[in-house]
Amino acid sequence: MTKIFDPITLGDYQLHNRVIMAPMTRGRAEANAIPGKLMVEYYAARADAGLIITEATAISPKGQGWVNAPGIWNDDQAKGWLAVTDAVHAKGGRIFLQLWHMGRVSHPDFLDGAIPVAPSAIAATGEAHTPLGKKPYVTPRALSVDEIKDIVADYANAAKRAIAAGFDGIEVHGANGYLIDQFIRDESNQRDDTYGGSIDNRLRFLTEVTSAVAEAVGAGKVGVRLSPKSQYNDMNDSDPVATFTRAAELLNPLKLAYLHILEALPGHMMAAAGERVTPHIRKIYQGMLITNGGYTKDLATNALETNEADAVAFGVPYIANPDLVLRFKQDAKLNIPDFATLYTPGAKGYTDYAMMA
Ligand SMILES: Cc1cc2nc3c(=O)[nH]c(=O)nc-3n(C[C@H](O)[C@H](O)[C@H](O)COP(=O)(O)O)c2cc1C
Repeated sequence: MTKIFDPITLGDYQLHNRVIMAPMTRGRAEANAIPGKLMVEYYAARADAGLIITEATAISPKGQGWVNAPGIWNDDQAKGWLAVTDAVHAKGGRIFLQLWHMGRVSHPDFLDGAIPVAPSAIAATGEAHTPLGKKPYVTPRALSVDEIKDIVADYANAAKRAIAAGFDGIEVHGANGYLIDQFIRDESNQRDDTYGGSIDNRLRFLTEVTSAVAEAVGAGKVGVRLSPKSQYNDMNDSDPVATFTRAAELLNPLKLAYLHILEALPGHMMAAAGERVTPHIRKIYQGMLITNGGYTKDLATNALETNEADAVAFGVPYIANPDLVLRFKQDAKLNIPDFATLYTPGAKGYTDYAMMA
């Protein structure tokens, strides 16, 4: 039976184990969205994960919108990331960069006053955390088809830059209510051109971005993350099973390294009502599947043994436990994360959690 410490091949890589570090925004980049020494230390400490997926990282200045989140649109940022990837590789780890465009949940304060872009001019309910404090989301501007093509090219360029910065691969962030997800789900996408309306049209931006990055860096270096039922960032879809099983079907021919599904387990505070989508995706998707959302070691072991997925990603457990793999191996107690310091600057609550002796 498959165990979380068994090796696994994801795309171009054989990983030491099936414990994946989930992408987590931590807001510790230095000025100009450049990763610094603190981020090197943070990721290197987690290098014994089977695979690290980094925090979401902006593909372009227009895609950003989170205080002190990193970028991958220029050489200085790539240089900062190279120090991270070198440190992870020196410890035998593997690391993919998560590529991000925030779409409508950015804010003019991050965009030199420009209006954020989205599939349709529909504002999310909620507040952006801008450098000048919390402000309501603004009504975005609907993208033209030419602009959509430019953003697809931005993803491909960011992917190439990531590989040049030493990353083993990239993860397309199609989850959690950011630009790609805004196109996928029908509450935020009300276009009447080839990028809206039918499910296939709503999935067109995802498949174009994914095909472009796969062509740019090789499909074995590309994963995709989706969150069929997440309501984070004011998201909803009228038929998540139909929408996301079709996404899996359309991704099949691309032969990616993996598909990564965030769907909180029943009983988890993030769990949404309605049928679970992951089992449907499992039946249709032909490649490697990573599952995520509220897993413990025991729940992950069960998920692998029952063939729910091929690997399991852990988010919150990785915040306070850089040595999570070792703790799982020894059935050791886990440190408790401090939620007050999730996104605050500096080492506190970031690189100061105790490792086991
Ligand atoms: C502090 C924090 C930051 C996060 N940032 C991201 C992110 O940048 N990209 C992403 O896809 N998900 C992000 N997530 C979601 C996690 O990857 C994960 O899906 C979620 O925490 C559920 O998994 P868990 O129960 O193992 O924590 C974040 C979660 C947390 C707690």
